[in-house]
Amino acid sequence: MKDMSIENMPELPFDVTESLNQLRVSLGFSGENIKTIEITSSTPNEGKSFVAMNLWKMMADVGNRVLLIDCDLRNSEMRSKWGLQTNEELVGIVHFLAAKADVYDIVYKTNIANGYIIPVAACVPNPTILLEGKRFGELLEVCKSQFDYILLDTPALGSVVDALKIATYCDGSLLVIRSGETPRKMVENSVSLLNRTETPLLGVVLNRADTSKRGNNYYYNHYYRYGYHGEYYGNNGNKKPK
Ligand SMILES: Nc1ncnc2c1ncn2[C@@H]1O[C@H](COP(=O)(O)OP(=O)(O)OP(=O)(O)O)[C@@H](O)[C@H]1O
Ligand SMILES: [Mg+2]
Repeated sequence: MKDMSIENMPELPFDVTESLNQLRVSLGFSGENIKTIEITSSTPNEGKSFVAMNLWKMMADVGNRVLLIDCDLRNSEMRSKWGLQTNEELVGIVHFLAAKADVYDIVYKTNIANGYIIPVAACVPNPTILLEGKRFGELLEVCKSQFDYILLDTPALGSVVDALKIATYCDGSLLVIRSGETPRKMVENSVSLLNRTETPLLGVVLNRADTSKRGNNYYYNHYYRYGYHGEYYGNNGNKKPK
């Protein structure tokens, strides 16, 4: 298997680590059948890749064999942001979907023990047709037999159809919300879009929350996962994001 190193993975503050840890543990209670998890958001820049990457590392650190698939096929910044380096020829998910590579050509073992990555390698302007082919589902089926968890970092739901399509292949999705930025209507729209798929919305992650308004409770810092299965955004109209 090819190797890849991640050169730029900053240490997280204790409180952020704790909150992500809560998210990791909570996902573990989602059920044994929840292995492929899409991470998406309503708009760009809400922190999907940040959450995906750090959750991936945390899952790997506790001994899960975990695969992160970069599914931002149009505009992946993972390689530059996280300093992904390999001495091998870089081939990724686009090559696989276009039938130019096999599964084993695109999975990289990283310098994070138990952590594996499928990069994008080459962006494409219109990947919808690639996502609609049968190879995406086949990829996940093969990977499911090899890994404990597979996290899929996707584009925002509001921009392109990709994330919704990808959700249909996954066992569950997580919706990242940038605290104080994403309009409530957009969040509601994302929830209803995701609910139209048969894939359960496992929960939402409130990213970059202003902790000063929540007292000194560390667990509210940066990440806070509201209830599972739309409990927070569900049919109970009284429960809305602040
Ligand atoms: N909780 C956080 N604390 C500090 N920085 C953060 C946090 N969440 C995100 N960021 C930073 O904000 C920027 C945007 O985050 P990120 O790239 O993860 O967003 P995204 O939703 O994946 O964006 P895109 O829609 O472009 O893919 C990045 O520079 C990231 O490092
Ligand atoms: Mg991203």
